[in-house]
Amino acid sequence: MTTAKDPGPQPGQLRVLHVEDNELDAELVSEALRRGGFSVSVVVVQEEAEFVEQLLSHHPEVVIADYNLPQWTGMEALDVLRRKGLDIPLILVSGALGDITAVECIKRGVTDYVLKDGLARLPEAIRRALQEKRVLRLRREAEEDLARKVEELARSNAELEQFAYVASHDLQEPLRMVAAYTQLLGERYRGKLDENADKFIGYASEGALRMQTLIQDLLAFSRIGRNGAALGHVDCDAVVEEVLLSLGPAMEETGAVVTHTALPVVWADRSQMVQIFQNLIGNAIKFRGEDPAISVQAEKADKQWLFSVSDNGIGIAPECAENIFVVFQRLHARTEYPGNGIGLAICKKIVQRYGGKIWVEPRTGHGSIFKFTMPCDSPAE
Ligand SMILES: Nc1ncnc2c1ncn2[C@@H]1O[C@H](COP(=O)(O)OP(=O)(O)O)[C@@H](O)[C@H]1O
Ligand SMILES: [Mg+2]
Repeated sequence: MTTAKDPGPQPGQLRVLHVEDNELDAELVSEALRRGGFSVSVVVVQEEAEFVEQLLSHHPEVVIADYNLPQWTGMEALDVLRRKGLDIPLILVSGALGDITAVECIKRGVTDYVLKDGLARLPEAIRRALQEKRVLRLRREAEEDLARKVEELARSNAELEQFAYVASHDLQEPLRMVAAYTQLLGERYRGKLDENADKFIGYASEGALRMQTLIQDLLAFSRIGRNGAALGHVDCDAVVEEVLLSLGPAMEETGAVVTHTALPVVWADRSQMVQIFQNLIGNAIKFRGEDPAISVQAEKADKQWLFSVSDNGIGIAPECAENIFVVFQRLHARTEYPGNGIGLAICKKIVQRYGGKIWVEPRTGHGSIFKFTMPCDSPAE
């Protein structure tokens, strides 16, 4: 039974599929929609076969269904929509629907329900249903968009890492030749050519050596996370003790005093935890002020460990606080303070690998506090 007065839906008309056995009720619903400001094209059906057929030919934007029909029920219409994977809002219109049933129906996926003696509410219910659907669609699209971007970013990151690895790895070989032969040149011909030649050969060897350390640093950086490192419980207390032992000579030479509170056990690759503390404590000693005092601490904050390494050294201008974590970024000439500027980049890459963050804050008075987070539990716990 089709009560659409026009031959088919016109542009701008809301396409409605109405499951209803009572002609008068069907007319009342159409009337209510028109009164509510809708221009509609309604097709009325009574049973499943017709319903399925009209779903395919009428392409309804909304389904209105009576709760109880002689042959089947509005809820069965909902099941058909489900089976066909159609995301069309279904609104029940019913003579009497107890509160319990209404809640049941909504739980099962009905968008809304309207009583037959309250049809004035129907247009608003439809507007809301269409709006909800639009919002859901937009949200789904945004989520899909985000997922796509995350995937792209991961891919381009992986490519970049691969590039850095291959480049630094393959550059080593020719560079070794350059370094070896400039060194040989220096040894064989020093004092045999003119003074300028000696100087130039010196510069060339120095440059080659420096490039070798830069490339080795870059290789070390790009190797983080490449070789499926052995993760396990790492006692940070023991790690820091080990680091202090290796920094012993530097501490003696500078008079730096390093203290640490009890540090936790974390789930990580031990050698990487050594690298982090070695870099941070090493920096605190290198960029020291008078009477260098350095302290290492950890506290639990929000299901994470928050580590801090604080010093009373030369401090860092706030505008440089982000830059210093970038590969080869330094704030001083190498003649002032030795180094390649890879240490903090390595720390950041390691910390991020464990889902943590690293940053620096100015210390009141003077100096800096480097902070980083690590998850509290091992994945298995
Ligand atoms: N504790 C610190 N106090 C002051 N400046 C620091 C400190 N740690 C790092 N920096 C700044 O950050 C830069 C980058 O550090 P890093 O990556 O470890 O490289 P490097 O130690 O080779 O210079 C340093 O050159 C320095 O300018
Ligand atoms: Mg460093």
